[in-house]
Amino acid sequence: MSRLDAVIGRLKSQRSCLNAAVALIGEAPGHVLELGLGNGRTYDHLRLLFPNRNIYVFDREVASHPDCRPPADRLFLGSMEDTLAAATARLGAKAALIHADIGFGDAAATERNVATLGPLLPGLLRQGGIIFCDQSLDGVSDFTAITMPGDVAVDRYYGYHKK
Ligand SMILES: C[S@@+](CC[C@H](N)C(=O)[O-])C[C@H]1O[C@@H](n2cnc3c(N)ncnc32)[C@H](O)[C@@H]1O
Repeated sequence: MSRLDAVIGRLKSQRSCLNAAVALIGEAPGHVLELGLGNGRTYDHLRLLFPNRNIYVFDREVASHPDCRPPADRLFLGSMEDTLAAATARLGAKAALIHADIGFGDAAATERNVATLGPLLPGLLRQGGIIFCDQSLDGVSDFTAITMPGDVAVDRYYGYHKK
């Protein structure tokens, strides 16, 4: 598989998971959390899918396409280690959906990032809420793996609900 194939597969998987989230959360109350604004691609897709839900966004900085900038009052800027804790205090465990796109090119740095951030996530998600992540969160207590959309290859993307 070429790197082009891998990128295309990853983006298609992200889109399939976010699309699947619409039916998975249904009418359940709660906001959406986007961890990793980056270029703003998945944030933009979430805005289309969930026009009536507040979407709170986390990143170190805003480096997204100008059309994909969240409103200032829904943006948590800084290290997620700090901002997720701040969001837990402000928002509580009330998210219906978390999308976490928190990997780097560096596998060891990604592993450290997930080890730090993963345990903070259950505190933001409502019971029965859904999380899709580009990294495995198998080690996070309170999360149970869900059946992934059929077009998402094994270990390409990961989905869980909170017990
Ligand atoms: C893969 S990019 C996200 C791409 C984005 N979802 C998109 O569709 O354009 C990951 C982003 O997460 C942010 N990030 C990862 N770990 C972070 C951390 N611990 N604190 C703050 N930002 C973090 C990075 O700054 C980067 O912008």
